[in-house]
Amino acid sequence: MKTQVGIIGSGPSGLLLARLLHLQGIDTVILESRSREYVLGRVRAGVIEQGMADMLRQAKVGARMDREGLIHEGINIAFDNRLERVDFPKHTNGKVVMVYGQTEITYDLMNAHIDEAGGIVHYESPAIRVEDYDTERPRIIYQQNGKESELVCDFVAGCDGFHGVARKSIPAEKIATFSRAYPFGWLGILSDVPPVKEELIYANHERGFALCSMRSQTRSRYYIQCEVNDKVENWTDDAFWDELCRRLPSEEAANVIRGPRLEMGITPLHSFVAEPMRFGRLFLAGDAAHIVPPTGAKGLNLASSDIYYLSRALLAYYKQKRTDLLDRYSETALRRVWKAIRFSWWYTNLLHKFDNEPMSRRLQTSELDYLTGSEAGQAVIAENYVGLPYEKFE
Ligand code: FAD
Ligand code: DHB
Repeated sequence: MKTQVGIIGSGPSGLLLARLLHLQGIDTVILESRSREYVLGRVRAGVIEQGMADMLRQAKVGARMDREGLIHEGINIAFDNRLERVDFPKHTNGKVVMVYGQTEITYDLMNAHIDEAGGIVHYESPAIRVEDYDTERPRIIYQQNGKESELVCDFVAGCDGFHGVARKSIPAEKIATFSRAYPFGWLGILSDVPPVKEELIYANHERGFALCSMRSQTRSRYYIQCEVNDKVENWTDDAFWDELCRRLPSEEAANVIRGPRLEMGITPLHSFVAEPMRFGRLFLAGDAAHIVPPTGAKGLNLASSDIYYLSRALLAYYKQKRTDLLDRYSETALRRVWKAIRFSWWYTNLLHKFDNEPMSRRLQTSELDYLTGSEAGQAVIAENYVGLPYEKFE
């Protein structure tokens, strides 16, 4: 099998890249280890920066998002039984975020790319390794129906997430990795109940972090910090709701509407960056190259900015025979990645319980008091949360 751009992974990175290239007449084949239903069933991110919303519109998959997505002009930060709001437009020259689930984005991309445009995605076809990435004819070795095959390409995009094989195909001495694991996880619930408040609440509490998010006016997504080795089996729905309410200011806790879980899962928290993001004709994008703790809602949005740079670089190659953007992809993408890594780390530190030291707690609540009471402090949170601008790349 041959194609122009071989893509490993049909998460948001892989699908968005395939869609943008397809709209410009460039052929792609996506290899995905899981089934279509499995990929769609994964409940993950929910907050979309304006840069990503614009990318989805450019990919002509923004119509349902614009109809059904919720525009949020701020977030709430809770601590010491207080609730403080950070206004986005006021501090960012009018920027906002969109609340629209990763599941919905994936659905819209599958619908447009596969069902309407006839784009090729081979599900249940795991890539095993990438070969000859430093030649003009890189190959993806993959498995389908128990048989090994190869996909020969001009370029390979490794969009196969943190556990994928693209990054692992590179010899260790050619890649630098930076990693930090956090000593806790997030236990999340999805439930068909109205959200406790119109905008998200990020709560710092002496029992641990809590987050109130949503997918719509009738579907809520809540998270609480949990032990890193905790198991979903340890939690009944009631135990979850009780613990969530303990961590919110009393007024908000009283407004929480409980319901049965549609889904419950545990996410570990991790910061990770691999450098560079390009190896000859193999390009890494999204979680394959970097992971952030979910606190800043940046994981999905970074996948989008990587694809912004990578799609433009590939288009410049195919349309204008230019290679300079491909050469600059890694350093350009990484500049934005590191800023989001830093923000996610800082925001995680600000809001989670790391130890039982009274000093740690006082420092956190004092920083929260300072940030939320200062225009400059609010601007720091707002500017990062709505997403730093994509660099011009042409
Ligand atoms: P992925 O979505 O991971 O897609 C990679 C794809 O590659 C998958 O479909 C996988 O099956 C496939 N694949 C893997 N290996 C192979 C192979 N060998 N061959 C072929 N295909 C392969 N971000 C937020 O902003 N907020 C959140 O609340 C949040 N929650 C998260 C919860 C979890 C459990 C996880 C794992 C991530 C979460 N994230 C969150 C991060 C966000 O979902 C990711 O940043 C985003 O999915 C990245 O998209 P991606 O396409 O790069 O990678
Ligand atoms: C959601 C997840 C996040 O990590 C976050 O910071 C905000 C919202 C969500 O799933 O809705």
